[in-house]
Amino acid sequence: MDAHPLKLRVQSVVAETPVIRSVVFGVEGGAVPQWQAGAHIRVLLPGGGDRPYSLMALPDLPTGAVALGVLREEASTGGSQFMHALQVGDVVSATAPVNNFALHEGTAPALLFAGGIGITPILSMAAELKAQGTRYRLHYAGRMPGLLAFLPQLQAMCSDGLAVHYDSDESRLDIPAALGDAPADAHVYVCGPAGLIDAVKAAALARGIPADRIHFELFKAQQPGIPNAPFEVELRSTGLDVTVAADQSIIPALEAAGFDVLYDCQRGDCGICQCGVIAGVPDHRDVILSDDEKASNKVMQICVSRAKSERLVLDL
Ligand code: FES
Repeated sequence: MDAHPLKLRVQSVVAETPVIRSVVFGVEGGAVPQWQAGAHIRVLLPGGGDRPYSLMALPDLPTGAVALGVLREEASTGGSQFMHALQVGDVVSATAPVNNFALHEGTAPALLFAGGIGITPILSMAAELKAQGTRYRLHYAGRMPGLLAFLPQLQAMCSDGLAVHYDSDESRLDIPAALGDAPADAHVYVCGPAGLIDAVKAAALARGIPADRIHFELFKAQQPGIPNAPFEVELRSTGLDVTVAADQSIIPALEAAGFDVLYDCQRGDCGICQCGVIAGVPDHRDVILSDDEKASNKVMQICVSRAKSERLVLDL
């Protein structure tokens, strides 16, 4: 079965900021599949592998089209460069929409937080909440004016439901204050870098918001930093030994060894690739495990996490 059955032809590309483009695609040979706010597709990359992009409910989207927001990452491994270079007429293959970040059912209000390119699913959420008549407030944070994409569309859509925050001035996002203004029964949604997610989660929990009303999705650009080291993974079920190279994660290493692995987001926020750790010490890089779960070293997300020990034995 084709894992990337959608054929998408680029209809338009707009530079929203110096590093973010909106790309609108027409669906070749069929209708746009059903999707709801928070859904993403995975676009197949020329060198193999794929990359998730949230579907955007842009207000002026032509009928029969889908839109993605694409960030050009400085330390890209190639995927964001490829997506950023797409031109009108190019065709890409993609998965059907998947949603690990759906809105709650019911009429409880929503408090939305977006950092940088994390606005892409949050914009769709604001559009859906508005269409439903559900109360919401959107806090959109970035480093400085000029770097926030889709601001005109959001201002037109959300009017006074939108609060814009810049790290560079007094409008800087005050998360406890934003949560303090929220209705007691609000659901909280956050998408952006790990630091924003961690801060919103911690502040929301401290305010007494139950964990099942805090929803998040990580948007993580590759950061240059300490180089990764290779390590060994042993699969308990087969005894198979696999070397994970410094420039790959556990999932492609296992796939290259012929082992089928379940995964989706590849950002450490959906939990689908979680597996048990029988021996060794994981280097946790996800945002889904609690601090206690990470400290236990009994489970890990194999899409992003690596090893502090030279060897891991996984319950796979
Ligand atoms: S694939 Fe989503 S957490 Fe690993």
